[in-house]
Amino acid sequence: METFLSDQELVSKIKDLASKKDAVILAHNYQRPEIQDIADYVGDSLGLSRQAASTDADIIIFCGVHFMAETAYILSPQKTVILPEIEAGCPMADMATAEQLKLKKNQHQEATVVTYVNSSAAVKAESDICCTSSNAVKVVESLNSDDILFVPDKNLGAYVAKQTGKNVILWDGFCPTHHHIRAGQILALIKEHPQAVFMAHPECTEEVLALANHIDSTSGMFSWAKQSDANEIIVGSEMGMLHRLQIENPNKIFYPASNQTICPNMKLITLDKVYDSLLKLEPKITVPEQIRLKALEAVDKMVKIG
Ligand code: 13P
Ligand code: SF4
Repeated sequence: METFLSDQELVSKIKDLASKKDAVILAHNYQRPEIQDIADYVGDSLGLSRQAASTDADIIIFCGVHFMAETAYILSPQKTVILPEIEAGCPMADMATAEQLKLKKNQHQEATVVTYVNSSAAVKAESDICCTSSNAVKVVESLNSDDILFVPDKNLGAYVAKQTGKNVILWDGFCPTHHHIRAGQILALIKEHPQAVFMAHPECTEEVLALANHIDSTSGMFSWAKQSDANEIIVGSEMGMLHRLQIENPNKIFYPASNQTICPNMKLITLDKVYDSLLKLEPKITVPEQIRLKALEAVDKMVKIG
């Protein structure tokens, strides 16, 4: 007979098991509130990669999406990397394959390939350097080349082109969650809350970013919200952001861009699945060594830039 545990029981069992098994729980800023609350570290893609590389724990329970767990494994192959729900993928990462990238590289041999970490290990392995939303501009500025093939997010790529003035060839990829935020929705929110400022993730479209007072990665948005004088902030990113924003800024009001701004893949991770994955130490994420070593070069170059 199946026994059902309350959330409270699950949380205490997860904590006990994690400590017995020497496991660290890492969670992305878009995870469900209860997952963020049990995590040892909550952050953006760059912060999570750094944690994965530096943790002393033998086991990493990665509460995020597939490419994030893969990046953790690329950086720390000696550790056991677990993604509690194997179906938690990223539609944007799926918009670029290594085969497609090889063809595109042939058409643009002069270009340096900069790949957003929201991509498969095989695509990273075909790239010159990786970037995250928090260092994309810095990474592209650091390159000698003026011709950049930017994969796979066309919105982040267009933002980088604007900031750096370089010739950025865009891939036709996008994040459905951010791409569907409309400028009209933001304008309506600004009209409704005239005192509010607007912060946005660079995965949003150019028209939406044009309305932003601040553009940043998820963790960058937390810092900005904290130091901002504004008491009302419109959040142009995934709904999961609201949880910590509200805890860290109890006197400020946050408005989501819309109630539909949800990444369904991020929400596939639940307390039950975290507990189950800790018990079974499955599903494990690995990358074939030949691909891992090539992908590591691109990720390492990014990590050195910061
Ligand atoms: P960051 O947390 O690195 O800003 O990335 C956002 C995102 O969409 C991850 O999937
Ligand atoms: Fe991918 Fe967008 Fe979800 Fe991030 S929010 S995991 S980019 S679909």
